[in-house]
Amino acid sequence: MSAEWNYSKDDRGVGVLTLNRPAARNAIGWDLLEGLLEQVGRCAEDSELRVFVLTASGDKAFCAGADLKERKTYSEAKTRTFVRRIGRLTAEIGRLPMPSIAAINGHAFGGGCELALACDLRVMASGYQIGLTETALAIIPGAGGTQRLPRIVGLAKAKQLIFTAARLSSEQALEIGLVNALGDNAMDLAEDLVAGMLRCGPLALRAAKSAIEAGFDTGLEEGLRIEQTAYQVIIPTADRLEALVAFAEKRAPEFTGR
Ligand code: COA
Repeated sequence: MSAEWNYSKDDRGVGVLTLNRPAARNAIGWDLLEGLLEQVGRCAEDSELRVFVLTASGDKAFCAGADLKERKTYSEAKTRTFVRRIGRLTAEIGRLPMPSIAAINGHAFGGGCELALACDLRVMASGYQIGLTETALAIIPGAGGTQRLPRIVGLAKAKQLIFTAARLSSEQALEIGLVNALGDNAMDLAEDLVAGMLRCGPLALRAAKSAIEAGFDTGLEEGLRIEQTAYQVIIPTADRLEALVAFAEKRAPEFTGR
């Protein structure tokens, strides 16, 4: 834990990672980046973690992207390393085995938008803007943005947004499917999704995510094979049997993640 970020996990198994540099609009400098990498690594290994939520402190920005003041002091070599490390961070968020939600409670630009793109779902408070603004700084999205944005909103729309460094309102982001939901408070929106997920079998959610992720970039036949393999993992679980018993007894199931 560091002053620049914090992490808490509640007794439901919901982990919340919070960027905490509100005075710098939660911009990502070296120390924050390394801290986030470590914490996301720990979350990946946490078999009790049912849902991962990424959010930020303050009411101005979710994340203003890379720390541009710090960047100005970097050598070319250090800039290269930073870009690799932030790319790794979003890759690791994308690979988290449990569902992940970005609760975007402020502006999200550049690397801040890319952190959100790496999550499975995005919810956003109204009144803010979001976008991959890197090209306006004569750089390109380097933390997965050129690859994830087209997969989420489609090729032509992603090209339009990246080629114009567009800053979309939260309403526009909702309209094109860049965010899943919009409301007054991002954490409340995330909590609605979390509540739905907590009613489901934790191992089933992990298996469903792995099938979707592994199958998405393959053909349908290969994807269907991947789905079958993911299903096999679920068959011997206690939770699957508990769901059947609970159904017969007309009660809500109590899942244990086994
Ligand atoms: N890196 C470093 N510092 C940043 C930053 C960034 N990406 N974004 C904002 N800050 C700093 C500002 O320099 C300012 O610091 P100061 O108080 O020492 O002057 C402080 O955060 C507040 O920023 P300010 O612009 O006054 O706040 P705001 O609430 O009016 O606007 C943003 C917030 C995010 C809309 C605006 O700061 C912005 O557009 N930032 C750049 C976003 C960007 O292009 N990111 C792409 C990076 S690849």
